[in-house]
Amino acid sequence: MRSGLIKQSQYMELLRSVPSFQSLPEDVLSKVADVLEETHYRESDYIIRQGATGDTFFIISQGQVKVTQQKSPNEEPEFLTTLTRGEWFGEQALKGEDVRTANVTAVGRVTCLVIDRESFVHLIGGLDNVNSQPFESSENTARLEAQSVLFSS
Ligand code: CMP
Repeated sequence: MRSGLIKQSQYMELLRSVPSFQSLPEDVLSKVADVLEETHYRESDYIIRQGATGDTFFIISQGQVKVTQQKSPNEEPEFLTTLTRGEWFGEQALKGEDVRTANVTAVGRVTCLVIDRESFVHLIGGLDNVNSQPFESSENTARLEAQSVLFSS
């Protein structure tokens, strides 16, 4: 099980680097590392589809994902943001209603660490900075505005 131990320590290293997890003690991070599943995606794969039901939380281990959202039926999904290594998504469907609020697709090859609802609720769900939606923070609004300037030029 040597490779299992190496994986476990790689997972721990990534989990420790996630800003939102800074307040989690080592033993909780270690439990998270024990229960997570590693998943792999290719360019344009849907990791999450808006409107689907879901009960998993994702942390990006490698690569980048794109978040898009269809604001109304018959409209094309709008680009919201990109997320990269150490960032997470999929928390919305784990609070209250279990419906996915946006699409998340792979930009190139992506590896995610996936945590099921029960482990999320027990180990991570109580964190304020996971509960408060980071994409509504002023920092993220500024980031989105900066990105929209970049993308429109
Ligand atoms: P969930 O609704 O479970 O699945 C889609 C995910 O996309 C969602 O959780 C959030 O993690 C993420 N998401 C939704 N809206 C935004 C947004 N405006 N900006 C960044 N990420 C978002």
